[in-house]
Amino acid sequence: MTSPLLEARGLSMQRGGVDVLKNVSLTVQENDVLALIGSNGSGKTSLMLALARLMPVNKGDVFVSGEAINGKNAGLAYRRRLAMVFQEPLLLNGSVATNVATGLNLRSMPRQELQERVDEALELFGIAGLSRRSAHSLSSGEARRVSLARAFAMRPEMIFLDEPFTALDLPLREALFQQLSKLLHSKGITAVIATHDCREVLQLCNRVAVMNKGRLIRSGIPDDVLADPPDDFSAAFARHAKSYNT
Ligand SMILES: Nc1ncnc2c1ncn2[C@@H]1O[C@H](COP(=O)(O)OP(=O)(O)OP(=O)(O)O)[C@@H](O)[C@H]1O
Ligand SMILES: [Mg+2]
Repeated sequence: MTSPLLEARGLSMQRGGVDVLKNVSLTVQENDVLALIGSNGSGKTSLMLALARLMPVNKGDVFVSGEAINGKNAGLAYRRRLAMVFQEPLLLNGSVATNVATGLNLRSMPRQELQERVDEALELFGIAGLSRRSAHSLSSGEARRVSLARAFAMRPEMIFLDEPFTALDLPLREALFQQLSKLLHSKGITAVIATHDCREVLQLCNRVAVMNKGRLIRSGIPDDVLADPPDDFSAAFARHAKSYNT
C-alpha cells in the first residue's frame, strides 16, 4: 500500500507553557481536501502550523509520502512543496505585486516566469487593479485576497488555509469559494482548511477532522462524522449543516 501524502503521528505541542496539541495523529491522502473544525482555541491553527513544520512540536513526527520530515534540509525541501494562508494575513512592506511575488523570489525564478505567475494570481483573485498599492493600505478582505494570491502563485502541491474566507464580503466570498473549489480540483492540490463554515465543509471537503481541546477526536468523511458528531461543537455544526441541505 502506498503511504499517505501527509501523516502526523502523535503530535504534541506546547505554546506559552500550555498543551495546545495532545497526541494528534492524522493522515491526508493526495488530493484530499480536509476540513479542520472545532471551537475557538481547540487547536486548529496550531495543528496546521505543526503539519506545515512552521512551528516546532514537543513530540511526534510529520511524514510526507512515508518519509519523516526531520532536520533542516528535509524541512526546507518540504516547505517548498507547500503554501500556507494564515488566519491573519501577514503582508510585508511594499506593493501588492511585491507581496504576491515574495515566495517566488526566494526560488530564483526567471523574471518573465515570475511576472507571469504574479499577473495570473492577481487576476485569479481579482486584485490586478490593486497591484501597485501599498499592501499596508488594504482593507482586511483585500489583504486576505493578496495572501491567497501569494500562496497560489507558488503552485504548491499542498496548501494550508486557515479560515480563508473570513472578513470577505458575501459576493466575494461566493466568488472566491467557487474559484478555490475549481483551483483545488483542477490543479490536484491537497488541502487542509480550518473553517467554521458548514458549506465549505460540505461542498469543498472530502474529509473532516474534529478538534477538541487540543485533541483530534474524530476524522472521516463529512456525512459520517456529522451523522454521529463526537462533541457538542460538532453536533451544533451538524445541525447547521442540515439546514443547508434542506
Ligand atoms: N502564543 C501563544 N501562547 C500561549 N497559548 C497560545 C498561543 N497561541 C495560541 N495559544 C493557545 O493555544 C490554544 C489553541 O489555539 P489555536 O489558535 O490553535 O486554536 P484555533 O482552534 O485555531 O482557534 P480559532 O478558532 O479561534 O482560530 C488556545 O487555547 C490558545 O489560547
Ligand atoms: Mg485558528
